[in-house]
Amino acid sequence: MDKSTNEKFKAFTNKFFATKNITDSYKDVQWGSTESQKIRFQYICKLFEKDQSNDITLLDVGCGLGHLYDFILEKNYNNIRYSGLDIQKDFIEFAKKKHPEGNFMNKSLFELDADKHYDYLVASGTFSVTVPNENMKIFLEESVEKMFALCNKGIAFNLLTTRMPSEYIGTTETHFNPVEILDMCFKLTNRINLYHSYKPNDFTILMYK
Ligand SMILES: C[S@@+](CC[C@H](N)C(=O)[O-])C[C@H]1O[C@@H](n2cnc3c(N)ncnc32)[C@H](O)[C@@H]1O
Repeated sequence: MDKSTNEKFKAFTNKFFATKNITDSYKDVQWGSTESQKIRFQYICKLFEKDQSNDITLLDVGCGLGHLYDFILEKNYNNIRYSGLDIQKDFIEFAKKKHPEGNFMNKSLFELDADKHYDYLVASGTFSVTVPNENMKIFLEESVEKMFALCNKGIAFNLLTTRMPSEYIGTTETHFNPVEILDMCFKLTNRINLYHSYKPNDFTILMYK
């Protein structure tokens, strides 16, 4: 992604997620409920839950308030060395106060050094915003390519689906066609899982090297 497009995406996303009074709630990061946030984490964590290695490095792209880190601690995934990244400065400051031992960075995925690798990269809810007059599928493809290039073992992300019941139609968020996205992911690897059964409007993709 070129510098000016990255700046445009950053400015829009920053404004979209600007929250006056952060309370550490799912609402601050624009989820509908704690349950819907957590079921997404549950599917994201399928990426590494069978990995028995001692020290697994994980980067949470679009970490918000670090709720995935809370979830990982709650579930006792003791072998995970967590880092979070978000372009929303206030979220990162809040997450750092909550978890002083955590590694939280205030930058965009596209500002990460190409030589900094993690075993796994994940993104939950990171690709739902619609930036006006931008091709969100190209943005997603570039994001997935970047995440996959930076991982040693694999990546996971979730998206809102176009294959949803009619009551979800008409929202301003970006919905993706799961079949098209699967095709896109097969350009990078054949080792893919797609979960489209845990919520009516969402799906998760896991991709392995
Ligand atoms: C819906 S929130 C989800 C936050 C968190 N993953 C969770 O589930 O609680 C999406 C987050 O992604 C961040 N984000 C979007 N695009 C990003 C990018 N390119 N790089 C870093 N963060 C990004 C936003 O600032 C926002 O905090």
